[in-house]
Amino acid sequence: MGLKGSIRVPSDKSITHRAFLFGAVAKGKTVVRNPLLGEDCRSTIQAIESLGASVVEQGETFVIEGTEQLTSARLDCGNSGTTMRLLAGLVAGYEGEFQLTGDDSLSKRPMKRVTVPLREMGAQIEGDFAPMTIHGRALQAIDYTLPIASAQVKSALLLAGLRASGVTTIHEPMLSRDHTERMLPMFGADLTVEEGQDGRFIRVAPGVLRGTEVDVPADPSSAAFLWAGAAIVPDSDVTTTDVCLNETRIGFLRTLQRMGADVTIENERKLGEETVGDVTVRTSRLQGTTVEGPMIPSQIDELPLFALVASQASTPSVVRDAAELRVKETDRIKTVVQELGVLGVDLEETEDGFIVKPSTIQEGKVQSHGDHRLSMMLQVARLLSKGWIEIEGIEASDISYPQFHEDLQRLHREIE
Ligand code: S3P
Repeated sequence: MGLKGSIRVPSDKSITHRAFLFGAVAKGKTVVRNPLLGEDCRSTIQAIESLGASVVEQGETFVIEGTEQLTSARLDCGNSGTTMRLLAGLVAGYEGEFQLTGDDSLSKRPMKRVTVPLREMGAQIEGDFAPMTIHGRALQAIDYTLPIASAQVKSALLLAGLRASGVTTIHEPMLSRDHTERMLPMFGADLTVEEGQDGRFIRVAPGVLRGTEVDVPADPSSAAFLWAGAAIVPDSDVTTTDVCLNETRIGFLRTLQRMGADVTIENERKLGEETVGDVTVRTSRLQGTTVEGPMIPSQIDELPLFALVASQASTPSVVRDAAELRVKETDRIKTVVQELGVLGVDLEETEDGFIVKPSTIQEGKVQSHGDHRLSMMLQVARLLSKGWIEIEGIEASDISYPQFHEDLQRLHREIE
């Protein structure tokens, strides 16, 4: 039985976080239409309320009244790395004392990538892991070359730059998602992006943001699970509508196309500063491929899912240059190799990725390790097994895609 039907998956997590965080410190009202209300974004909403912003829910629309004077607060970022890292940059230049905490997984994730450059800007931060305390104070601009491709680090530094004296320049040798650069000018920021031979230079001048309106498109990282399912489950044909088609986000869709997947993109249009469209994927014969180098950041969150898709291709696949996977919600190289291994997938862990060989998905008992992307990948795997796959911790998918299980079931049943 295949996956059939059309669906608008929940809204984009990265864009939702940014709309709320920027709105929190903007003068006046910010209207966010169709935000994602997964657990990570709820952590962000709670945090900005603790900082003194007001958030009013009006159906699918949220109205934020920003605050220019942040309130000292303890900010619980839950499982969300984006909340913690962006908040660190956001609050560092404001007077006050801010304690950033998170759950067990977040407390193990490296924060030095933001604390080191923020300290270079003059920030006073205790700790390089959560819980961290930031004593807000005046900042100076820096010129900084990102040592790793990370939109979270880039965004944190641009937010700090809004409060620094002088122009902050971030040099990004390898492109990462660029929602912050697209959205900050909508809030009135004086921000420019220069494309150089060795990457992008993003410059931001100090200034106060002004409230604006943000429409949040559907999340390509959530749609990816349905694209994958449609490509590998026999007799499938799925359309996901209104998906953000920003090239810094759809590396996985490009990988599926390279593997030979039957992909159609229609109805491309602009939604604010982002391009959106409808993506249809049908069951396809796939060949293996290599994902490496600059291809990694645009599909970093989809690599666990890629491991499953690659197991259904006719030839082996390789992921390399993806050591960042080890510091995500779980060590995603270890957890993916372990859990897909339980299901009989022939895959091998390497230092910075994995090698996957064509395999048949068996039955078994697997765990999500509390990782939302693992839970959803394993739920897609379940559609391929002749036997039963039991998933411990399946509810982790609520972090980015509440109702994933129900949506998958609906598409699976639509052809009965
Ligand atoms: C995100 C950036 C990525 C990504 C994460 C969301 C963002 O992390 O993995 O899920 O919204 O900026 P890094 O910036 O650490 O690569």
